[in-house]
Amino acid sequence: ANDELHERIRAAKATLGDRVVVLGHFYQRDEVVQHADFVGDSFQLANAAKGKPDAEAIVFCGVHFMAETADMLSGPDQAVILPNLAAGCSMADMANLDDVTECWEQLEELYGTEPDADGRVPVIPVTYMNCSAALKGFVGEHGGIVCTSSNAATVLEWAFERGQRVLFFPDQHLGRNTAKAMGVPLEQMPMWNPRKPLGGSTETELLDARVLLWHGFCSVHKRFTVDQIDEARRTHPGVHVIVHPECPMPVVDAADSAGSTDFIVKAIQAAPAGSTFAIGTEVNLVQRLAAEYPQHTIFCLDPVVCPCSTMYRIHPGYLAWVLEELVAGRVVNRIEVDDSVAAPARVALERMLAAKP
Ligand code: 13P
Ligand code: SF4
Repeated sequence: ANDELHERIRAAKATLGDRVVVLGHFYQRDEVVQHADFVGDSFQLANAAKGKPDAEAIVFCGVHFMAETADMLSGPDQAVILPNLAAGCSMADMANLDDVTECWEQLEELYGTEPDADGRVPVIPVTYMNCSAALKGFVGEHGGIVCTSSNAATVLEWAFERGQRVLFFPDQHLGRNTAKAMGVPLEQMPMWNPRKPLGGSTETELLDARVLLWHGFCSVHKRFTVDQIDEARRTHPGVHVIVHPECPMPVVDAADSAGSTDFIVKAIQAAPAGSTFAIGTEVNLVQRLAAEYPQHTIFCLDPVVCPCSTMYRIHPGYLAWVLEELVAGRVVNRIEVDDSVAAPARVALERMLAAKP
């Protein structure tokens, strides 16, 4: 049955030609990745969506916030299609506009809005790409910027040039790991709990803060542990441990290096044959790398296979369906961000695309 599905996908793509481009995130399953015209991390896919002005449709094999971003960066007449509308992201759902607005109002009351002698405003909002378009819009409207896991340090530097502090959401781990690597002490990174007044901190703690962390996390990456790293080092002496910065801080500290999915791919590509890697990220990517680079030993740190369940919702059956609908002249599962949200969100996205290391 799968052979037939793949044949249908190939046939539909052949009929559509350059009218369609299929983008696939690194975490997509192999049955989907094999049909992607471009595979990459979330930053690369945002750029890819922007760079395909001739395609009528962009079929985005990834999760909802990525498709929203692609819609905001692509041309107004281009349709962005998410093959399964149920492909969301639990981390993105951990910050909503109401809670962030409420937090912002409390911070404005505490810090005021006047810049300091160096012209830096009291606080700059920074959002991880993994959030709704509404939050990207909020950030754009309040002088802030979007980041991905591949440019978080560059973006935080951008923010510290313009602000005395940063409010970072939704992923506490990416925020903490990145700021810590930049030398921000942990005591100056309180976590904001939207259920408590002043986020659960004292006024003094908030006045001293450099980075206010939201309480979100990735349910896939929070599974990795220091014990798994110790075990990998015991069973594979000389192993190189690389983890994604969505992992908790002790795990990032115990690893040899940490970086985005693209960083992980490039590290493996650059290694001499016969290297051994234990990887702390989504298992579909790790297993594909193990198959693509048989000259190395590559395994997932977590022995219990745990895919990102929402990425996995993009089944080749859905891909075949949306492509065949396009052949029939119908656009299904279109993701469209209203311009009132997209306009400010685009400002925050463009700031990110322009922020060079
Ligand atoms: P990157 O593709 O930026 O590494 O992000 C990983 C991820 O969790 C996407 O949801
Ligand atoms: Fe969201 Fe984590 Fe899945 Fe990425 S891996 S889409 S952050 S749940």
